[in-house]
Amino acid sequence: MARDRLGGVENSEPSDEAVDLLELVSLPMFEEPANAQLAPAIRHYVAGGAADEHTLRGNVDAWAEIGLAPRTLVDVSSLATETQLLGIELAHPILLAPTAQHRAYHPLGEAATLQGARAADALCVMSSLGATSLAELGAAAGSDPWFFQLYVQRDRGFTEEVVRRAVAAGAKALVLTVDTPTLGARDRDKRNQLGRIDGYTYPILADAPTAAEEVAPHRRIFNPLLAPDITWSDLEWLVEISPVPVVTKGHLRGDDAARAVDCGAAAVIVSNHGARNLDTVPATATALPFVVDAVADRVPVLVDGGIRRGTDVVKALLMGASAVLVGRPIIWGLTLGGAAGVQQVIEILRTELEMAMALLGAPTLADLTPDLLWPTYAAEATERS
Ligand SMILES: Cc1cc2nc3c(=O)[nH]c(=O)nc-3n(C[C@H](O)[C@H](O)[C@H](O)COP(=O)(O)O)c2cc1C
Repeated sequence: MARDRLGGVENSEPSDEAVDLLELVSLPMFEEPANAQLAPAIRHYVAGGAADEHTLRGNVDAWAEIGLAPRTLVDVSSLATETQLLGIELAHPILLAPTAQHRAYHPLGEAATLQGARAADALCVMSSLGATSLAELGAAAGSDPWFFQLYVQRDRGFTEEVVRRAVAAGAKALVLTVDTPTLGARDRDKRNQLGRIDGYTYPILADAPTAAEEVAPHRRIFNPLLAPDITWSDLEWLVEISPVPVVTKGHLRGDDAARAVDCGAAAVIVSNHGARNLDTVPATATALPFVVDAVADRVPVLVDGGIRRGTDVVKALLMGASAVLVGRPIIWGLTLGGAAGVQQVIEILRTELEMAMALLGAPTLADLTPDLLWPTYAAEATERS
C-alpha cells in the first residue's frame, strides 16, 4: 500500500466494496481492507502511533524476533487452552483490549463487539470512551463476564459515579489505565483535526465536568477527559472503593508494576497503549520479562501490543504472561464484518495459538515452559556444554 509523506496510509476515500471474510486467513490480512473501508481521519486514528512511530513498528517486530525451541515427539492430539483470570473461567487466554468509539467502525458499535466476543468465547475489556452507555453494555453482555477500562476523571466524585455505574452494569473488574495522563504526539490526528469530527458521542463520560482550556492547538498538551494529576494514591483510593478487582494497564517498568501490586492491583497489564503515547518506549515484548520478574507470581501479568499471530501469543505465555489482549485487529474485524468479523479475528488467533502449541510439543498451557523460547533454551544449552 502506498505511504504518504507522514508515513500514514493513503488518504483515499472509503471503499464500500464488500469483503469476503473467509478470504482473510490471518490477522494481518484484515488491516488493508479494513483501512480501505474507513474514512481517512478514522483510518489514521486507528493505524497511527505516537510521533515517528518507532514503537509502533517495534511492537510487532519484537514478537517476531523471539525464537522458539520446539520439543518433538510429544502426543499433541488433545490441546487445552482453558485458563482462569481473577476467578473467571476463560476458554482461552486471548482478551479484547479496550478501544474507543466502536460506532466509528460499525453501526452497532460495542454491542457487535460483545456479540462477536461471545461467539469466540473471549473476555472483553470495554473502554471508558466507548460509544455505548454502561447500562447498554451490561444489557448487551448479558451473563458474559466483561471488564471496564477506567480513565480517572479530573473530578474524582464523577469518577466514583462511573465506577458505581460500571459495577452495577455487571463489570467484573476495573482496568485502570495508568499510562495516559494525556495523549501522545498523535501527528496523524492533528493533521486530520480529529478532535473536530462531528457525529460521535462518548456516553459514559458525557456528564464529566471538564474545564475548557483555551490553548492554541499547537500548544495543547492536556485532554479534558484524562486526569493529568492521577497518582498512586488514586490507585489506592480506587482499590478501596471498588467492589470488584482493580487491574492496572500500561506498565513497562518492573518497579512500577510491583508497586501497583503493593497498592492492591489484582493483575497488571504490560502495555504501551498500542504505541500511541510515548514514542521510543520499548516494545511490550521487550518490557514483559522485567515486569514478570518484578511481580514474581504475586498476581497475573497480561500483555498487549502488536500481537498478531498465534506464535506471538505463545511467546507471551512462555515469557510468563497469563493472557494477552488484542487491540487493532478487533477493530479491523468489526469494520469488515461486525460481530462475525470480531469472532473471526479471535478464532484465527486462537487456532494459530493451538497450532503453535501442537508444534511446540506443549498440549496444555501448563506445558508452555520458558525452555521453549530459543534464547532461554540456547543459554541453558551453552551452560550445560
Ligand atoms: C483506536 C484505538 C483506541 C484505543 N482506545 C483505548 C482506550 O480507550 N483505553 C485504553 O486503555 N486503551 C486504548 N487503546 C489501547 C489498547 O487498549 C491496547 O493497549 C493496544 O491497542 C494494543 O495494541 P495493538 O493495537 O497493537 O493490539 C486504544 C488503541 C487503539 C488502536
